[in-house]
Amino acid sequence: METRSARKISSARGGNWTRRRFLKYAFRLSVLSFIGFGFAGRNDLTTEHLTLRFPNLPKAFDGFRIVQISDLHASFWVTETYLNQVVDRVNALPKDLLVITGDLITGSVNDFWKRWFPSAGGDHVAAISAVFQRLHAGPKLAVLGNHDQWDGKKTELRLVSELERLGIDVLRNRSVKLSRGEETIAFAGTDDIWFTYDIDRALREVPREAFTVVLSHSPDVREDLGPEKRVELVLCGHTHGGQVAVPYLSHHFIPIKNPARYLAGLVREPYGYTYVNRGIGTLVFPFRIGAPPEITSIRMRRA
Ligand SMILES: [Fe+2]
Repeated sequence: METRSARKISSARGGNWTRRRFLKYAFRLSVLSFIGFGFAGRNDLTTEHLTLRFPNLPKAFDGFRIVQISDLHASFWVTETYLNQVVDRVNALPKDLLVITGDLITGSVNDFWKRWFPSAGGDHVAAISAVFQRLHAGPKLAVLGNHDQWDGKKTELRLVSELERLGIDVLRNRSVKLSRGEETIAFAGTDDIWFTYDIDRALREVPREAFTVVLSHSPDVREDLGPEKRVELVLCGHTHGGQVAVPYLSHHFIPIKNPARYLAGLVREPYGYTYVNRGIGTLVFPFRIGAPPEITSIRMRRA
């Protein structure tokens, strides 16, 4: 009798141990699959096409096409090879204007990878410059993101000077007008909201009645644009669409004031629209799930 009971206990323990081991390996496999899936999908570039209608769009700009890229994050994980593929896609898209809404490079946070990969701290400004030399586009506008301003004035000014050298007009709290015949639309751009942002200065020379597009890295700029500012369109990035977009969870980690509203995509405002681009590159961890990298192609119609 004693021997049979002892065998039963041993068998039960063995069964439990096996089940526990199975669950442990299953969990590890799921985590590895999740990471592998995200790593493979990090460069799964998509192009989002949208048409936006505005009753007050000047007639001459009916059909005007803007291509937007954002958050390239040139870095150890976001290579020139991948960024060249992005440029090829951008070059192939019909457009009247290209806009780049910040975080072209990854800032000091990249030190994270230097512990394991000494080459992680490469010259990311040079990488952006080499890649953007291949851009075929007419007018090109850019604004700086937090990562572009994170590493101090020297890097920031070098990046701006490289972009300007390549014919990309960097809007640092100022505006430009684009004209077609007698008609114009205004583009106002700001520095990053954590650094030298000044939306009032950016809009200072824009007449109230002008059709206005604001370029700013963070969607937080909307907090400063009540209906009285009459901005038709805000183009921004910064959120990466969550990068790993877990419903009800990922927006808690997005450093903006209203992540539930501005996680990604088009937001209809009381006056005008905001579009939040999911970005091209990745930050900290080189994977994306549920938030593929994005090039946006916007067609504006008068309607
Ligand atoms: Fe970013």
